[in-house]
Amino acid sequence: MSHKSEPLATPVQAGTSDLAARFTREFGGRPDGIWQAPGRVNLIGEHTDYNEGYVLPFAIDRTARVAVAVRPDATVRLLSTYGGQGTVSASLDGLQPRSAKGWTKYPLGAMWALRERGIDVPGIDLLLDSNVPLGAGLSSSHAIECAVITALNELTGAGLQAQEMVLATQQAENDFVGAPTGIMDQSASLRGARGHAVFLDCRDQNASLVPFETEPAGLVLLVIDTKVSHSHADGGYASRRASCELGAEVLGVKALRDVQVGGLEEASGLLDEVTFRRVRHVVTENDRVLQTVELLADRGPSAIGHLLDASHASMRDDFEISCPELDLAVETSRAAGAIGARMTGGGFGGAAIALTPAGEEQKVRNAVAKAFAKAGFAAPDIFTVSPADGAMRIA
Ligand code: GLA
Repeated sequence: MSHKSEPLATPVQAGTSDLAARFTREFGGRPDGIWQAPGRVNLIGEHTDYNEGYVLPFAIDRTARVAVAVRPDATVRLLSTYGGQGTVSASLDGLQPRSAKGWTKYPLGAMWALRERGIDVPGIDLLLDSNVPLGAGLSSSHAIECAVITALNELTGAGLQAQEMVLATQQAENDFVGAPTGIMDQSASLRGARGHAVFLDCRDQNASLVPFETEPAGLVLLVIDTKVSHSHADGGYASRRASCELGAEVLGVKALRDVQVGGLEEASGLLDEVTFRRVRHVVTENDRVLQTVELLADRGPSAIGHLLDASHASMRDDFEISCPELDLAVETSRAAGAIGARMTGGGFGGAAIALTPAGEEQKVRNAVAKAFAKAGFAAPDIFTVSPADGAMRIA
């Protein structure tokens, strides 16, 4: 975990014609097209995906856009509007897991995973422009991978379905990038739809769209980016995953998805204290996802606040993946009028979400900014998000 803020975390996104013009200036020639894929906010269901459980994320109205042109050779040239690395060149034939640096590991990982599937991936020139904040727990990396894989799926005529693209991006993350993550983020980015959350069963990838709109309920969903950057390739995420696998093994189940809330008492006698708390988080979190889906259908978003709160407490106390900045964001926004709040994403930094009555939005923003300043934390970035469409071609 590091406490430095990333450069150009939320740049203004170029329009498609500006991006195409920039592509032409940088690479010569016109792009074959421009594709975009969104970041995601997870409404609820954290660290349940790799336990074959349930998640309820949604695609957000912030996207990674890639302008791409196929090349006649096996060279890949990558450039981003973030600045930083300049144009990076790589050879498709030389792609090795864990060899790429910075943001280029995401497009290269996506290309590598497609090649692993026997797809004849061509060399490309690619210009990336993203306004998904980096390292904020909103899945900026999956947004890039999903934009690239959507572009290549079309450009190669591979005809992959969403499920297969989800698995390819997971392979890119797990093996090429080296982050042992699940399937939630890319599922939201590829399958999201405006006005909906994606209710995903991570055992069989069965997905259904659940209406989730804050505005008609008089609410806004605030994202509070704590600017504490995190990486799932660091040890914390992997060690939580290992505890879950240990728990499942000792309990004799295929995955923690198979343990019910009613089975926790028995589990407590079989597991060491720490493993039990890790297991209890996953089991109760799965249950909270199911309750959230039911409540959204019956009573709408204003009924789910207590489940967001309980999810945060479980991650703070049982799974131990929160941090002081996330706890402060959650506590302060609740005290200032939010009806429910929790950290979102893998943890150890990143962002919190606060479901807030529209009339209290400014009060919550002010209270959080003030509390962060008082605590000596970096100023958080606070913005609203709403459920948006998943990956698509835009030009
Ligand atoms: C990260 C991973 C996801 C998921 C979440 C925690 O975002 O990429 O697969 O495990 O953490 O819910």
